[in-house]
Amino acid sequence: MSNITEEIKKRRTFAIISHPDAGKTTLTEKFLLYGGAINLAGSVKGKKTAKHAVSDWMEIEKERGISVTSSVLQFNYEGYCINILDTPGHQDFSEDTYRTLMAADSAVMVIDASKGVEAQTIKLFKVCLLRNIPIFTFINKMDREARDPFELMDEIETVLGIRTCPVNWPIGCGKNFKGVYDRQTRKITTFTAAMNGQKEVESTEVELGDPQLNWLIGNDYHGQLMEDIELLDGASDEFDMDLVSQGKLSPAFFGSALTNFGVETFLEHFLNMTTSPLPRRTVDGVIDPFKEDFSAFVFKIQANMNKAHRDRIAFMRIVSGKFEAGMEVNHVQGGRKIRLNQPQQMMAQDRKIVEEAYAGDIIGVFDPGIFSIGDTICASNEKFEFEGIPTFAPEHFARVRQIDTMKRKQFIKGVSQIAQEGAIQIFQEFNTGMEEIIVGVVGVLQFEVLTYRLENEYNVEVKLEKLPYEYIRWVENKEEVDVAKIQGTSDMKRIKDLKDNPLLLFVNSWSVGMVEERNPGLKLSEFGRN
Ligand code: G4P
Repeated sequence: MSNITEEIKKRRTFAIISHPDAGKTTLTEKFLLYGGAINLAGSVKGKKTAKHAVSDWMEIEKERGISVTSSVLQFNYEGYCINILDTPGHQDFSEDTYRTLMAADSAVMVIDASKGVEAQTIKLFKVCLLRNIPIFTFINKMDREARDPFELMDEIETVLGIRTCPVNWPIGCGKNFKGVYDRQTRKITTFTAAMNGQKEVESTEVELGDPQLNWLIGNDYHGQLMEDIELLDGASDEFDMDLVSQGKLSPAFFGSALTNFGVETFLEHFLNMTTSPLPRRTVDGVIDPFKEDFSAFVFKIQANMNKAHRDRIAFMRIVSGKFEAGMEVNHVQGGRKIRLNQPQQMMAQDRKIVEEAYAGDIIGVFDPGIFSIGDTICASNEKFEFEGIPTFAPEHFARVRQIDTMKRKQFIKGVSQIAQEGAIQIFQEFNTGMEEIIVGVVGVLQFEVLTYRLENEYNVEVKLEKLPYEYIRWVENKEEVDVAKIQGTSDMKRIKDLKDNPLLLFVNSWSVGMVEERNPGLKLSEFGRN
């Protein structure tokens, strides 16, 4: 096996998705701890700093955690080279959060056992479905009062529409959390509550049927476990690797990230079941990761904090082959050959220059303003385009005007460049041109960032008027319908994007269904295609 093949084979690139506070950061820290990448858990990022005092761009950046410093965490563990993609997703839930999932080969969904499936998990999950990537569930915080595990499994299945297959099963919860039962090995790992703030808990492993078990977990919990096992064996889905690979069955694990209980088992099972770098579709075929020639696509563009240079970093996911610093590549959409100098990789707080990287890895390259989201980079003698990255539905809209009408040009330039980075989406009124701009964002913080950056980088003061719309739909079959004649609802507004694609805005979600009903043949979509 060539060295390149070997390197690619050991890569595992995944994203962790969750609703804020479910424990994503804590779990990531524990993973890094196992990889020896950090010595002390708690150093992934300075999270949860004080509420943000608007509106210093750099402050916002810092507070965000921040995408530049923690875009991807790479570490080695038991022969694997692991890339964890950070999905920024606290108060600043943004398009970047979605796009990051475009670069992942699988996802770990962290769920708070007392809360179940929450709003942001649902949104991120939909993107995973779009990609058909394997999804693993980690039900966290079992050391606290939790909901009934059967009920949690049911909720995942009904709300998210994915079947689950528990790999282990909890015994009790909260003060009475006794441990977990591994359904494959038929062994129980016991949990002893942490004392005196100590973070790691002691545990013992015993087989089901071992006479010690009664004594270790108590008669009642033993009885309950036996009942649960019977129910599970009879009623839950059987493990089927093919279904897992297609994202149709989610292996589920119970544990407690904070006390580091069940994390290592999870990591081991997960690494076994998840996939090495997946092939990617191009407009006319598929690119195999083990193909020797380098190829990559841009999934995220980050405006740099260095205002003086106004430079940006383009993050690329390597799809195939090996990357070497300084290599000449073909930037397909730009229509020219470029040299990728000073590529960077992020590790926790540090950036480092990389000399080589392989399919599955993420690199950040200096972008003098030539890249757009979704661009393809490939070996200099090749030319093909990876399928575009979908445009995700913004949920907040505002009309934006520049205050000084003389600064029209700077205004348009600023808004367009920021939109090119993918931080905002811009739209126009359906019947007019660019006189008025409607901006759509996924997270409200983006409005602040926009206002701040226009003022500081483009010297344009703007006025933002928030609009009541929350739902946007792309008209998929625009060639077949006359958008002006769509039978609308009173809360519907027609707009178009910069490429003249028609879209509809709604205040209420039920209006979407109503309009579909009133206009047979009209096809609406939550995702746009570039
Ligand atoms: P997030 O990245 O998904 O937003 O969640 P994060 O890991 O920051 O965890 C949110 C809170 O939940 C933190 O508490 C964290 O310590 C706690 N937590 C995470 N996993 C577990 C668990 O398994 N059991 C229990 N009991 N708590 C857990 P915090 O008080 O908000 O922050 P901190 O001061 O402890 O950092």
